[in-house]
Amino acid sequence: MTQTFLVQLAYITASILFAFGLKFLSSPATARRGNMLSACGMLLAVLATLAGHQIISWQWILIGLMIGSAFGTLVAFKASMTQMPEMIALLHGCGALASVFVDWVHYEKLLHEIIFSISAVESIMLYLSIVIGALTFTGSVVAWAKLSERLPGKPLLFFGQQWINGLILISILVSGALFFQHPSEIMYFYTFLAFSCVFGVLLVIPIGGADMPVVISVLNSYSGVVACTTGFVINNTLLIVVGALVGANGIILSIIMCKAMNRSLTNVLFGGFGQVKKRTADGIKKEAHPISVEDAQLILEAAKTVIFAPGYGMAVAQAQHAVRELTHVLENNGCDVKFAIHPVAGRMPGHMNVLLAEANIPYDQLLEMEAANPLLETTDVAIVIGANDTVNPAAINEKSSPIYGMPIIETFKAKTVFVIKRSMASGFAGIENDLFYYDNTRMIFGDAKDVVQRLVAEFKTK
Ligand code: TAP
Repeated sequence: MTQTFLVQLAYITASILFAFGLKFLSSPATARRGNMLSACGMLLAVLATLAGHQIISWQWILIGLMIGSAFGTLVAFKASMTQMPEMIALLHGCGALASVFVDWVHYEKLLHEIIFSISAVESIMLYLSIVIGALTFTGSVVAWAKLSERLPGKPLLFFGQQWINGLILISILVSGALFFQHPSEIMYFYTFLAFSCVFGVLLVIPIGGADMPVVISVLNSYSGVVACTTGFVINNTLLIVVGALVGANGIILSIIMCKAMNRSLTNVLFGGFGQVKKRTADGIKKEAHPISVEDAQLILEAAKTVIFAPGYGMAVAQAQHAVRELTHVLENNGCDVKFAIHPVAGRMPGHMNVLLAEANIPYDQLLEMEAANPLLETTDVAIVIGANDTVNPAAINEKSSPIYGMPIIETFKAKTVFVIKRSMASGFAGIENDLFYYDNTRMIFGDAKDVVQRLVAEFKTK
């Protein structure tokens, strides 16, 4: 058996491990196994690549490995759970940048050969790889800056934006066409590389707050496509298969998220949605109704059904363990407790599921939005804990609202609604929430963990 055959066999095995890893990742019950399988696949792929013939410099590999591992370990230890989405955006960007470098080095290598030769398919793949890779890198950096609030989350719009975008797109296409005719002219390569970098920035800056989840998963998909095209450029089957898997998964996730927000993908990417519209004052002074923890406990003591609607604030407060304690106390009191999970609650897909699983809340208590909404009408108390946009009735009642049409957890239908948050501040989309002023809503102001712990303590002193 030749070495090449063994490397290819290892690549196929790694691809199978990745495919099964992804399958297992689709359910919380099997997700750990999925992660483990994918990690084994990655280890096998790295070892097989290192055992191949194409290694030019061990020193550079070692230096890259040390810098990458040190940086990755530092970031992983430093980043809190709530910073995961911005970290994921940055990691997609790094993946795309790595692909751009691989393609670029491959092209330079071809240019330095005695007789330059590149096939039509190779030059198309190289072009696609550089264009998508460069725009994914700069787009991801902008998404990271927006999510980490280094750039404003609202859409950044300026006069003539569409025209400038159009001109840049034309420049990318024209330099590409010239490159196909004269592939040894590096100027054309640099031109579409530079314009693609600028295009990535311009594509993401007009996308606003509430649409960021979709943008992140689209960028995830792009980074997969780039890996795939790079695989064609350097003739690596593993990159082709894995890139296609990541690309397809990213696009499926984007479609699921768009459905959850009742939007189309093109509308998200080019519709300028998320723009925060200031509501014209309706002249009516609205008043919220605060309630003390002691009074809230009395209402909870009498409740037979409770549904929690958790959101980003629960993650910030790390209140999930306290919530589990409150769940036990309520259940011991004869109450039926469920959790309504909105698909974009928090800051990353499955954010609430991960937190609640970490607190050992059984999966069968977690209801998807479609299953939870019909139950809310007959629910005694809905507890909104650190959620805001995902329970905002403006999505149903206000045609002018930027989130109009997005399905929400309809907590306002419950007999009583408790909203646990620190102030009257708006959520990620930056829009007011009328739920706080409804007659059946009571605001419990404070940090989510602190409030829930005080509720539990109140039950225990009775
Ligand atoms: P948000 O609308 O972001 O609201 C979170 C609320 O939590 C805030 O109003 C805040 O109010 C409260 N809060 C913050 N820290 C708290 C603490 N320590 N204790 C108690 N409350 C606290 O949350 P959501 O309903 O989960 O909606 C998610 C939003 O993020 C959506 O707009 C979604 O599109 C967007 N987004 C989602 C994702 C994914 S994939 N899930 C990714 C990026 C963006 P106070 O400051 O008054 O406490």
